[in-house]
Amino acid sequence: MGMTTRTKEAEMRKTAAGPEPSGALVLFGVTGDLAHKMIFPALYAMVKRGVLKVPVLGVASSKWSPAQLRRRVTDSIRRSGRIDDQRALQRLLALIRYVQGDYNDRSTFMAIRSALGDARRPAHYLAIPPALFSTVIEGLGAAGLSEDARVIVEKPFGSDLASARELNRIARSVFAENSIFRIDHYLGKEAIMNILYFRFANSFLEPIWNRNCVASVQITLAEDFGVKGRGAFYDSAGCLRDVVQNHLFQIVALLAMEPPAYQGFGAVHSEKAKVFRAMRPLRTEDVVRGQYRGYRKEPGVAKGSDVETFCALRLFIDSWRWEGVPWYLRSGKYLAETAAEVLVELKPPPQRLFDDSRPVAGRANYLRFRISPSSAVALAARVKRPGKEFIGDQRELYLLEQVPAEESPYERLLGDAMAGNGALFTREDSVEAAWAVVDPVLKRHHRAYPYRRGGWGPKEADALIAPDGFWHNPQPERTGS
Ligand code: BG6
Repeated sequence: MGMTTRTKEAEMRKTAAGPEPSGALVLFGVTGDLAHKMIFPALYAMVKRGVLKVPVLGVASSKWSPAQLRRRVTDSIRRSGRIDDQRALQRLLALIRYVQGDYNDRSTFMAIRSALGDARRPAHYLAIPPALFSTVIEGLGAAGLSEDARVIVEKPFGSDLASARELNRIARSVFAENSIFRIDHYLGKEAIMNILYFRFANSFLEPIWNRNCVASVQITLAEDFGVKGRGAFYDSAGCLRDVVQNHLFQIVALLAMEPPAYQGFGAVHSEKAKVFRAMRPLRTEDVVRGQYRGYRKEPGVAKGSDVETFCALRLFIDSWRWEGVPWYLRSGKYLAETAAEVLVELKPPPQRLFDDSRPVAGRANYLRFRISPSSAVALAARVKRPGKEFIGDQRELYLLEQVPAEESPYERLLGDAMAGNGALFTREDSVEAAWAVVDPVLKRHHRAYPYRRGGWGPKEADALIAPDGFWHNPQPERTGS
């Protein structure tokens, strides 16, 4: 009895201290682009902060020497900023080892196994082309490398509903759901976490946050650059799969969800999943696709490609709170700005007491979340101009977050996954429900409209939103408040 009680106490202490951290990171695709652009700088930052002390096992098929890999890591960190801590860099390089092998070959997994030694709860990070996800997951399972281990899967998670289901099935046959970490790096962004906080840490918002007061919501993720050498990947995906079904939908879910029933991310996951399920599947006429001029000449892109580099859509959430409120989402490459913003437009006052209180040319009151490049929240309200007349202007109360996030999204997410914290990852049911919304228009759609670089996409996107107003084009960042 005494023994049982002690065991229970030990168990409870373990739970209270959180799950056991990963004793090693296995990085599949260590010679690839993602590792170079995002992952090595994140690992370097983690070493600097003293949170990464375990071996990092890089895996890839290229015949690289350890010295080559070390040069690649150093180059990546130099390019991402500067090497401001030589000792941290040396510590990182000392942690990294290389395992070369084919992912279809059992001996690769055996080599990983022996390199891991007795490291507990390894985290396997699949920074590899999506077509290889299943192969590696199955390889891990067959080699016994999934026992007591975690898997971190990069996006895109599937390319439609059927493939996402299949990938989930394979992943779940090898790993438990709480050991699968599906990355959407938008969830690691401060400004996006702030949407959740701002909504539920304030009391003034809730009474107006519904179909009675909100006229429409629009979200723009604009980039003033093209596919940046990722033509081959991009041409197999397109804008809808690349950023809308995941990044933009995650933002919609945080804006639209009901308050979580208890404090804890399990509750947040459940409320978000309900939003995805309540989204009305898209119809062809809800979507405008565009392609920037010159896209077909990008390396890796098919000559006659009809893949969209711009996408605008109208979405409805069939819930008690949001019935009838249109959500307009838009993203594109080679637009006029690089910025992401949410605009929640409120309905005008019920009576027109002043000449300008039902603004026709201007906007009704709105709430604006600036997501990037930096984080800000603005609330726009009309105030009277000095003088005899009762006319005014729409002015913004503006809160700019000037302190940059302590951790980059990748650093945050990688650290969380290795600590077994799944709060900022996407759950199986949400991923599938989000695919179910876009599935009908993945194949059934009009041909992409060509658009000029440096503008705001094809004019057909303006026609899409016209019944409810016009697009708000994010402006260059303000510098002060
Ligand atoms: C990635 C997409 O997931 O997100 C890219 O594959 C896109 O095409 C990027 O540019 C945008 O992310 P961020 O953090 O730069 O806004």
